[in-house]
Amino acid sequence: MQVFNQVQAIRDQVSEWKQARLKVGFVPTMGNLHAGHLSLVRLAQKSCDKVVVSIFVNPTQFGPNEDFDSYPRTFEADQQKLQELATDAVFYPSVEEMYPNGLKQTLVQVPADLTGLLEGSSRPEHFDGVTTVVCKLFNMVQPHKAVFGQKDFQQLVVLKKMVAELAIPIEIIGAPIERDSDGLALSSRNQYLNPEQRSIAPKLYESLQEMAQQLINRPVNFAELENKATARLLHEGFDKVDYVKVCNPATLRPASEDDKTIVILAVARLGSTRILDNILL
Ligand code: PAF
Repeated sequence: MQVFNQVQAIRDQVSEWKQARLKVGFVPTMGNLHAGHLSLVRLAQKSCDKVVVSIFVNPTQFGPNEDFDSYPRTFEADQQKLQELATDAVFYPSVEEMYPNGLKQTLVQVPADLTGLLEGSSRPEHFDGVTTVVCKLFNMVQPHKAVFGQKDFQQLVVLKKMVAELAIPIEIIGAPIERDSDGLALSSRNQYLNPEQRSIAPKLYESLQEMAQQLINRPVNFAELENKATARLLHEGFDKVDYVKVCNPATLRPASEDDKTIVILAVARLGSTRILDNILL
């Protein structure tokens, strides 16, 4: 497995693979890899001949009071895990390589009707940072396909929109959420939880499953369901519920009775750690 730090070097490698008519898959990450990330790599390997994983903790998607400085950076361990999966290449650029003109540069911005709500309402510049860095990574790596986890459901919807509207010739694949045995969705931020918080965390998925069950046995009032779930989460020990919303999976707007597919999106906090989860029905 080769590690590339320079844009030109990864571009040359991918171009060589493409000339040999090989399909190139791409898994962008911020490192600190867990089984969830590894499942993305495996999914990419299923339909691609070569897979590139990028590891870059992107400063522009973190807010001023967020965990950019303390975000776990574990390159050696990540490299080991990727090696075991027979990943073909790792792109591991520096901040200067990614942002040679500084962080305040040209932005890629998906309109606020998708990015200003849910995650965007408490993290105003987050999605501009994500779309900008992913667009840059796409231009640098130039893969055929890219895989993102469905855990960050809104991110996936926003990135699909970006690719469609900017006519980026890359197929976006959404990968199912990987969970611990007690149901908690895997996330690098789970390691911030103390043992008591860790025991409360899986109750978010339990609440979502209960909501899903009630939605399947419709009719049910969506707002009432959201309010009940919020009260239950606070009762179970979460410190704050940022949102529990029954949404249309394409528009992320509140679902209507006629919607054939529905996504329940939720974020609840344990201390300052935000636990994200969702269920697509
Ligand atoms: O989901 C993530 O880990 C990040 O938001 C991404 C897509 C790698 C962009 O930095």
